[in-house]
Amino acid sequence: CGIVGYIGSNQAVSVLLNGLEKLEYRGYDSAGIATLTEGSLDIYKVKGRIQALKDQIDSNIEAELGIGHTRWATHGEPSEANAHPHQSQSGKFTLVHNGVIENYQEIKEEFLTGVTLKSDTDTEIIVHLIERLFSDVEDVLVAFQKAMSLLKGSYAIALIDRENPDLIYVAKNKSPLLVGLGQGFNLVASDAMATLRETDTYLEIEDKEIVLVSRDNVSIQKLDGTKVIRDSYVAEIDPSDTEKGTYDHFMLKEIDEQPIVMRKIIQQYQDKNGDIKLDKKIRKVMTKSDRIYIIAAGTSYHAGLVGKQLIENMSQVPVEVHIASEFSYNMPLLSENPLFIYISQSGETADSRSVLVQTKAMGYPSITITNVPGSTLSREADYTLPLHAGPEIAVASTKAYTAQIAVLTILAVDTAQAKGIELDFDPLKELAIVASAMESLIDQKEAFESLSKELFETTRHAFFIGRGIDYFVVQEAALKLKEISYIQAEGFAGGELKHGTIALIEQDVPVVALATQENVNLSIRGNVQEVIARGAKASIISMKGLERSTDDVVLPAVHALLTPLISVIPMQLLSYYAALHRDCDVDKPRNLAKSVTVE
Ligand code: G6P
Repeated sequence: CGIVGYIGSNQAVSVLLNGLEKLEYRGYDSAGIATLTEGSLDIYKVKGRIQALKDQIDSNIEAELGIGHTRWATHGEPSEANAHPHQSQSGKFTLVHNGVIENYQEIKEEFLTGVTLKSDTDTEIIVHLIERLFSDVEDVLVAFQKAMSLLKGSYAIALIDRENPDLIYVAKNKSPLLVGLGQGFNLVASDAMATLRETDTYLEIEDKEIVLVSRDNVSIQKLDGTKVIRDSYVAEIDPSDTEKGTYDHFMLKEIDEQPIVMRKIIQQYQDKNGDIKLDKKIRKVMTKSDRIYIIAAGTSYHAGLVGKQLIENMSQVPVEVHIASEFSYNMPLLSENPLFIYISQSGETADSRSVLVQTKAMGYPSITITNVPGSTLSREADYTLPLHAGPEIAVASTKAYTAQIAVLTILAVDTAQAKGIELDFDPLKELAIVASAMESLIDQKEAFESLSKELFETTRHAFFIGRGIDYFVVQEAALKLKEISYIQAEGFAGGELKHGTIALIEQDVPVVALATQENVNLSIRGNVQEVIARGAKASIISMKGLERSTDDVVLPAVHALLTPLISVIPMQLLSYYAALHRDCDVDKPRNLAKSVTVE
């Protein structure tokens, strides 16, 4: 979910709606705002997108204060009743919340007997709790503090009091939240992107802090009331990077940006002698570690799989790659000197953060590889390696995946160099070759559009197969297709197919095979023959030099370890066109959110 709040001149409605649109990537099943004007509090809520909310609200409404929310359902189905803001019984308090309250049942039983709930959300409990505590202490701040100290779980909250048009009460634990500073106004938002139109200056809020935001002042305190002084920072995001420009979809724009991102990474990680430029301390932790644990979710996990291959091959350190949500509860036996690498486009994924909190408490060093340097995972890890990919807005990740692999390549080579391992591999030169190869693939969009039509226009199932490094890429290919076209897809190890999954192959089921590695070129082609013999509609994407048939889709040649950077592009385009032709919402697929800040 995403939240935004504004206090200042008469612009509240426009700031909130614009902010929520920018936060829609965090969830988009329902939305709402509350505004306060001269003692009158108005709430607007809809099931659906921000556009539906905009259609319902007269944009000329003048309000100096407001809070807004875009939801990704956790407790309770997407509906108007479950949409935020939620209000207390008397109507005095109204709030928006991002996160999950784990002890909502206990709070309900202990404090809220006799209160009739209007929604199925855990959030509604919070607002009633504040009102109940207020009735005892008659002081809003004290009631707010007390309520926050009773909550267990994650929250970013903005609360308004109908009787006080001069203040927004804000609190945070685990869920992301920033305060934006302006001249004569101030803001709160889940993410700086939401309010870049208004300001570029922000204050970070830490867990278990309470913030009082008025027009001209922001004061931070701990839950016990101790004052906190913190410097502001300037967010380095170009607001135009968050616009679609001439594209119909962010996803296609972001696919197209990949060559530029590769060049940006080369530039950012290169010193004036053309050597790798990386924080020496990162070098030190990388060489000291006897085993690296990569922790990530979704597409970032798939980039981690490729990262393992790169680091083990080049720098000779064993690497394990783990899904964050599993690692949290099922930690493997760790080595003596583990190093944790967190890969996360957003830097906010709660599953990954939960592992970071644990490994930090155990005293282990950590690096975050992220696209958002000011994000929670970036702030809380010891070191950060930025992706420099620019804002990624489409829910399905594309340019962040390739940027993650590029940065992991640089990290792997740097570690190898530090360990004195001789490599016949200049990463910056190889990445430049990749950038040009990406460009030539992107120029062949029409070919992938027609292949996508041929394979996926009507099917309900699809398989992607590969061996070795290609197996990692086909897992990402299947995820991409599932996410945006809702075709049930599986990325499978070519050799494993015959041990069960081949039972699913029937007439005309599409199978896309990747063949970018010489050592498995013939064996993966053998697997393709096996599925063709059972009626599959197969297509082979191979690397230049490895093609065996004129039917192969041939990728430009790049270094064997960097093929994922190239082979993923057709997969992204195939998925994009599949979703487009099936009339799916490409940038905002159903049920998903780009940044999942709940565990
Ligand atoms: C969500 C998104 C995925 C993404 C995953 C991890 O589930 O829908 O596209 O890969 O989170 O996100 P992160 O920001 O940690 O890379």
